[in-house]
Amino acid sequence: MCGICAYKTKENAVKLAVESLKILEYRGYDSCGISLFKNGKIETIKSLVDIEDLRKKTESISSHLAIGHTRWATHGGVTLKNAHPHLSSSNKIALVHNGIIENYKTLKENLNCAFQSETDSEVLVNLIEKEGGSLIEKVISASKKVEGTFAIAVIENDELVVGKRESPLYVAFCESGVVATSDISAFVGNVKEFYILNDDEFACLNENKIEFFNKNGEKIKKNAEILPKITQNFKIFDKTHMESEIKETKIVLKNTLKEYLNSDILTNLNLPKKIKEIDLIACGTAYHSALMGAEFFKEQGINSHAYVASEFRYGKEILSKNTLYIFVSQSGETADTIACAKLLKEKKMHLLALTNTPNCVLNRVCDNVLPTFAGKEFAVASTKAYCCQVFVLYLFSLFLAQNLQDNIEELIKFTNDFQVQDFDRALLDKIYHYKKIFFVGREKDYITALEASLKLKEISYINSIAISAGELKHGTLALVDESTLIIAISTEENVREKLFSNLEEIRARGGEVILVSNFKSGGFTKVSLSSMCENLMPIVSIIPLQFFALRMCEKLGYNPDKPKNLAKSVTVE
Ligand code: M6R
Repeated sequence: MCGICAYKTKENAVKLAVESLKILEYRGYDSCGISLFKNGKIETIKSLVDIEDLRKKTESISSHLAIGHTRWATHGGVTLKNAHPHLSSSNKIALVHNGIIENYKTLKENLNCAFQSETDSEVLVNLIEKEGGSLIEKVISASKKVEGTFAIAVIENDELVVGKRESPLYVAFCESGVVATSDISAFVGNVKEFYILNDDEFACLNENKIEFFNKNGEKIKKNAEILPKITQNFKIFDKTHMESEIKETKIVLKNTLKEYLNSDILTNLNLPKKIKEIDLIACGTAYHSALMGAEFFKEQGINSHAYVASEFRYGKEILSKNTLYIFVSQSGETADTIACAKLLKEKKMHLLALTNTPNCVLNRVCDNVLPTFAGKEFAVASTKAYCCQVFVLYLFSLFLAQNLQDNIEELIKFTNDFQVQDFDRALLDKIYHYKKIFFVGREKDYITALEASLKLKEISYINSIAISAGELKHGTLALVDESTLIIAISTEENVREKLFSNLEEIRARGGEVILVSNFKSGGFTKVSLSSMCENLMPIVSIIPLQFFALRMCEKLGYNPDKPKNLAKSVTVE
């Protein structure tokens, strides 16, 4: 949800900012822009196309001070006027902002100046201008009047100030000066150490000096963190991030298992003595792996539930000190998931973060961290990270039930034998015209159906639902006719016959059925899966379905890496 960056350097800061924006593009790609300070004034360049277009527009411009933004629209449509950076009405201050100013309407009414855009961010830059004192003083006093979330970089003359509340922001020295970005993987210019800004902390950035301030304007000291190696990819380069990342699944599962078996990650966890229940809280795809995790824990005899974070945070769940709360998130910066973790932290519950991003906000909120080692995931559609989440949750369920040792060989065999399987292209040619697609399954296969349906909707914009096969006849069967494609997942032996009966009911009503299964086809067109460890079949079955979504998207001529209306990190509520 928007990425920001700022550079004050001896070399060309504009070029560095463009490089950072290229990395931050996954956070939103509705528009992008840069403001720089040159010849005593601020110059602003924006693009509604993409970062490459911005790169071309800024190629011949150089400055030692630049701030940049890549936008996921919240307030105001996708227009150049609404694109960041925003300028104060005197054009003397420029600001980039990630977050939401909730009270912007009230602030706007009191500001009495002309606005160019419909954004809440333009209100903030004008609010800053109206405050008195140095730039850092103005930013801090404006922040006191603001309700909502922000990570901001602000320039006035030669000065650069940054600050944050809720939205992430990191600062560092680079080879030729200083940098601030929304994501540590977006630091360019040889950064070795970095500083994490906490909520309501601010910094004045100068080429060779960073000064930190708290919300009262007092100087504070902060310790630097070593920059972890998280920017590595796994050397599979396909034409889209999504395709590369699905194909990386085998490598990252192996990598994840190796890290868990060769380290003390599990034994170092500080868990409650008696875990009576495990509740998992997450959003989107991570919620689906949370659902899968709940099944694994129940299989090991531990009561477990999965919750959607945006519901849990306003719900009436009864909390318990004997419950372990697991927050699943690829990015570790999803606003609703973090809000739930903070809520439970206040109530002194036992928290564990399952994340793919070292140093992320969620890891800092929770007492314990289970990392996935999926490497950076750029595509908005989560694929390899989902498989790693499911894998780690299974591993953790075995660990809690003291069954890990007995299953190590099977886990190693799984990661060795596992193969990434594309969706059959000949079959795709026969079915890609369908506009109504249902995914069905039972038990864990139903969770796979939910995830497959989300993937398809997300990147191909086809209206699709997932339904537990046994529920069809309680209503949804009414929708089934010759125009319906039903993709049925069947890897659960104990409900196999039941599922087949449901499929016959669909066939009798004219629906076309494709079976994704490691069992016999029963006369249905089948995508054959290899038979592997039954509990890990959800990882085997989701791969051709991730490919199904990808290939449908490609056939329809869309870009899977940039689905409309979405962004990779959802840092607003
Ligand atoms: O970073 P998180 O795992 O917390 O993100 C949660 C969801 O926003 C995310 O999984 C989303 O549903 C994906 N785009 C789905 O592919």
